[in-house]
Amino acid sequence: MSVLRSVVTGVGGYLPETVVTNDDLSKIVDTNDAWIQERTGIRSRHRASEDQAVSDLAVEAAKKALAAAGRSAADVDLIVLATTTPDLTFPATAAIVQRKLGCPVGVAFDVQAVCSGFVYALTVADGFVARGHSKCALVIGAETMTRLMDWTDRGTCVLFGDGAGAVVLEPGEGQGTTADRGLLGFALRCDGTKQDLLYVDGGPSTTGTVGKLRMLGNQVFKHAVINISEAITAAANHAGVTIADIDWFIPHQANQRILHGVAHRLGLDESKVIQTVAHHANTSAASVPLAWAEGVSDGRIKKGDLLLIEAMGGGLTWGACVVRL
Ligand code: ACO
Repeated sequence: MSVLRSVVTGVGGYLPETVVTNDDLSKIVDTNDAWIQERTGIRSRHRASEDQAVSDLAVEAAKKALAAAGRSAADVDLIVLATTTPDLTFPATAAIVQRKLGCPVGVAFDVQAVCSGFVYALTVADGFVARGHSKCALVIGAETMTRLMDWTDRGTCVLFGDGAGAVVLEPGEGQGTTADRGLLGFALRCDGTKQDLLYVDGGPSTTGTVGKLRMLGNQVFKHAVINISEAITAAANHAGVTIADIDWFIPHQANQRILHGVAHRLGLDESKVIQTVAHHANTSAASVPLAWAEGVSDGRIKKGDLLLIEAMGGGLTWGACVVRL
């Protein structure tokens, strides 16, 4: 049976130049390198310069993804951009990226699912590409999380960084089997009753301010491993594959302990896990495509590999996708 699939034909990532180490942060808040590394695995993170908006980060990642796919901005007819730190309340950052890249008139909008944003955005774009409504889609995760930090709160400000990652999706003919290239299955979840565990305390229709990130980290941690594992199993079932079939696990890079916990629970060998949290920290919606781009650029992830991606964030939201590259 012939089916249309959304095939990832290019991946790209961008990290701003400035690197902030744990020692740098210990000069601002009462923390230290040993605590941060032991509890999170994080050693450093990147921070956008004052004149860089999230759209600037997104544009750099998008250019690399388009080059990898052998496409140009002129080909792009859809941009789905996941961010929780948009340039402006409106228009959507996707529209700003469309203008900055010089893409023709097409479809462009943002998806807001915090750290799960890229996983959500990929499935949304799949809805266009696999139904023949897009020939060349950019799916972007881009964040300037450092702009949402309360720099007096050591429990959160050490955890986050800035960056962007992007993939190009194009339609491809498949046979309806697990050997097809493309997005093979996914599972998305949201539990709005857990809002108080992770949120930003501002917004246009409440305080009229941007607000700062608030998190009950240890409570989020408790939900993380169980929630993510359930969604991963559901996504694998939807795709018709088993965990043993997975070549590369690309998890949301929030905390090394969560990432190891999920891999262990699923019986996934650690050598199959792409890990960037040590030098990226948590870049929210950018974290999965950034890690994906790193795995491709260093030659580990290759065409034909079966990838499992997952993320969890504010909402609470979480989800997973199975993709054959
Ligand atoms: N440096 C030194 N000590 C610290 C720091 C710090 N940066 N931060 C907290 N502490 C202290 C606390 O004050 C506490 O001290 P106390 O025992 O005297 O009260 C102690 O360390 C333990 O604090 P916990 O919060 O219980 O530490 P925990 O081991 O849970 O680690 C962490 C905290 C790293 C935040 C962890 O809970 C975590 O990673 N949670 C999940 C985060 C996550 O995945 N978020 C989802 C995505 S984010 C998004 O969607 C935007």
